[in-house]
Parts: sequence; C-alpha cells; structure tokens
Amino acid sequence: MNNTKNFFIKSFGCQMNVYDSNKMKDIFISHGLNPTDNYQDADYIVLNTCHIREKATEKTYSNLGRVHKKGKIDHKIIVAGCVAQAEGELIQQRAPYVDLVLGPQSLQLLDTYLSDANSKLKIITEFDAIDKFDTLRRFKTNTNSKSSFVTIQEGCDKFCTFCVVPYTRGSEYSRSISDIIEEIKKLADQGVIEVTLLGQNVNAYHGIDESGKERSLSYLINKISELDEIKRIAYSTSHPNNMTDDLIELHGTNTKLMSCLHLPVQSGSNKILKLMNRKHTREFYFKIIEKLRKHKSNIALSSDFIVGFPDEDDQDFADTIDLINQVGFMNSYSFKYSPRPGTPAADKKELPVKVQDDRLKIMQTLLNRQENNFNKNFLLKKVDVLISGLGKYEGQVKGKSEFNQSVAIVGNTNIIGNIVPVQITDISVHSLIGKAET
Ligand code: SAH
Ligand code: SF4
Ligand code: F3S
Repeated sequence: MNNTKNFFIKSFGCQMNVYDSNKMKDIFISHGLNPTDNYQDADYIVLNTCHIREKATEKTYSNLGRVHKKGKIDHKIIVAGCVAQAEGELIQQRAPYVDLVLGPQSLQLLDTYLSDANSKLKIITEFDAIDKFDTLRRFKTNTNSKSSFVTIQEGCDKFCTFCVVPYTRGSEYSRSISDIIEEIKKLADQGVIEVTLLGQNVNAYHGIDESGKERSLSYLINKISELDEIKRIAYSTSHPNNMTDDLIELHGTNTKLMSCLHLPVQSGSNKILKLMNRKHTREFYFKIIEKLRKHKSNIALSSDFIVGFPDEDDQDFADTIDLINQVGFMNSYSFKYSPRPGTPAADKKELPVKVQDDRLKIMQTLLNRQENNFNKNFLLKKVDVLISGLGKYEGQVKGKSEFNQSVAIVGNTNIIGNIVPVQITDISVHSLIGKAET
C-alpha cells in the first residue's frame, strides 16, 4: 500500500493568493507529499482565503465546516491568506478544529510546521516579506504551465477607505531585481514563456538592483524582456497614481508587453474618489488613458468598480457610467460596496440594498455590452494567441490573446507552448473561438 500523504489547496481571492498557493504546493512537494484535487483524499487541507468583501470571508467559514465534516479521518486543516491574517483568533473560536492559521507573509513557516510532527505552531501572522521571499526561493518550482504569476511586490500603503488589503498584506515591499530575475529564469527552465508580474500596487514597484539602486517597474520589465525564453509580459494590479511616464511609454516600445492593462478606477465621481481616498480625479484618469493610447493606440483597458459606496448619489453614479462610456473597456469587474471591519468607510451609513442592486445591474449591463463589442471586433480577424494547453473538446487547444482574451482553437496539439496567429471564426460571451493557421 502507498503511504504517501496527500495535500489539497483551494485558493480564493486574487492572483497573489494563486501565487502563494503555488508556493505552498512547492513546500508540500519538497516534503514528499502529493497534490490531490479531492479534499476527501487529503491529509492536509489548505484554504488560502480572501477577506476583501464580506461574502469572501463568509466563504472561508462555510468551506471550513464542510471540509472538516467530510474530510478524511486525521486530516489537518490549515487556513492561510487574508482571513487568516485578519481573523486568526476568531477562526480559532469559530472553528477550533483548525490546526494552523498562517498569514500571507508567514506562509513560508509551513515548512517548519511540516518538518516537526509535534509542531506547536498555531496562529502565525507576522509581517515579514523579506523572510517570506528569502525562504521561498529555496524550494524547487513545480510548474507544467506555459504561463506563470510572479509576485514582485507585496502590500499596500495607499489606504483606500474601503479596503482591507493594507491591513491583511502589510506595507509595501518590493523584491530585488535579481531575486525576481532568478525566479523567472527557473520558471523559464521549466517551459514558462509568459509571466504576469503581481502586486497589489504593482506599478509602485521600487526594488533595488545589484548596486543597491532603486529601480522602477519599467526597468524591471525591460530586464525581463532580455530573457529570450520569455515571450510575453503582463503586470497587475496598477494604481493610476503610479502610472509614470516611463511606464506609459514602455507600452509603445516594449514588444513583449501585452496589449492590455488592468487599471482600476473604482468610481467616476470626484466626490466619491475623494471619499475613497483614491487621491486622484476622474480628469487625471482620463489623462492617463489618453497618454497610454498615444503610445499604444490599440491598448485594451479593464477596471474595477465599486457601486453603492456610502454617499454615492444619482449624479455620482451617472458620473461613473459616463466615465465607462468615455473610456470604453475591454472588460471589468464591478462590486457592490461591502463594509469591512476596521476600515474608515465602515462607519458610514450604507445605501439601501435596492439602490445598490439597481446600480450594479445597470453597470454590469453596460460593461457586458462593451465586452461583447470589444470581442466582436475580432471576428474574421487574425490575432496572436499563446497556446497554453488542451481545449475543452477533442481536437481543440486553448490559449490567451495578446489582449488576455480566452481563445478556444481548432488546432493540432503540436502548437502548444507557441504564440501563433489564429483566425477568429466566432465569439461567445466571454471568449473567442478560432482556427490556428498551420
Ligand atoms: N490593489 C487594487 C485592488 C485590490 S482589491 C487596486 O487598488 O486597484 C480588488 C478590487 O476589489 C478593488 O479594485 C475593488 O474594486 C474591490 N474591493 C475592494 N474592497 C472592497 C469593498 N470593501 N467592497 C467592495 N469591493 C471592494
Ligand atoms: Fe486596496 Fe486601495 Fe491598496 Fe488597492 S490601492 S489594495 S484598493 S488600499
Ligand atoms: Fe483577497 Fe487578500 Fe487578495 S483580501 S483580494 S486575497 S490580497
């Protein structure tokens, strides 16, 4: 009988959690454990959680209850991520069967925990980004994907009044250029050809180079571009205030940079932007978009929006709709405002649910229409697609366009791992369908 132990990791929330989950996977594998897709087979169950909205947090507790009840006998449960950071003690109260609580900047201690069967570790929520990345680099990277996330920056010092991230991820920390390049080289050795650089404020990146000089994101992207194996580079999530001219210009000059940008604005009303502490105006956002389009005329934009922020009146909402109409987005995420404990906006009076629901519906209808129109433009045209793997159906492969659209392709599997021109033959709600040229 096989005595190998299994681990199961479920990731919630943003791409930074996906990155962290992959790192935890590397640690488990280094201890001789096997990944499983079924928590009922797992000796270790990890929930890598998100605290951004109330629903996300509640998901943690409902999932905990289920995995605890239905998991295999003697399983261990580890809660990682942003709920772990924010509610460590509460998790222990609400779910006393949880074995270990690990904040996002303490996840490297999973190694210590697995090394010692009698480990007394229980709740670890230190902010130590330096130790995190120093420790993580020791573990072998396991990936069979062509595309990978690389966290280059952690934390946030911006303190938008609605947001928990500065509290769950700590203050801004940028990894050094050499540390990042070393990680990307290891990924490239395993076949990765596309990297998405991650940070909650990725364009606030200011890591040091070999000589100790602080360098910007544009410098880092150019350095990564020098690696022949890396064919495509993207970065997410950006803040408008950190869209510096050198970075904007890079979109026109660096051919490896993808033709899309996620640049959340949250609201189109100056009054609400101020209440949110976003520290810029709608006019400033328009200016950034204008400059970006000057350097890269076909750049596709996406954003995040919050509707129903306290004090948002009809005119404020109309301003946001106007901003969406003026910019024209490839796609976007929109959320109903969710008051988060400990954030400044949480004390403000909430808008009636019906108002929030109605506004969200109007916004989503508009955003969907824009997405659909954006995709329609590709019909019968050719677009470069990075083929990442097998498609859903027989005879199909799948990939991502240079605008980050999902594309299902009729084509031979020998094109997997390449960037190939694809003729778009059809579009569905959120994706394109095409035929590869052979
Ligand atoms: N760092 C990114 C945002 C990370 S959080 C940025 O500054 O753009 C991802 C998105 O969740 C945010 O852009 C925002 O739209 C949404 N969000 C954050 N806090 C929220 C809250 N309290 N209620 C509703 N949506 C929220
Ligand atoms: Fe949150 Fe604002 Fe920081 Fe983004 S910039 S992570 S929304 S506090
Ligand atoms: Fe959620 Fe934490 Fe990311 S709160 S969005 S997992 S930084």
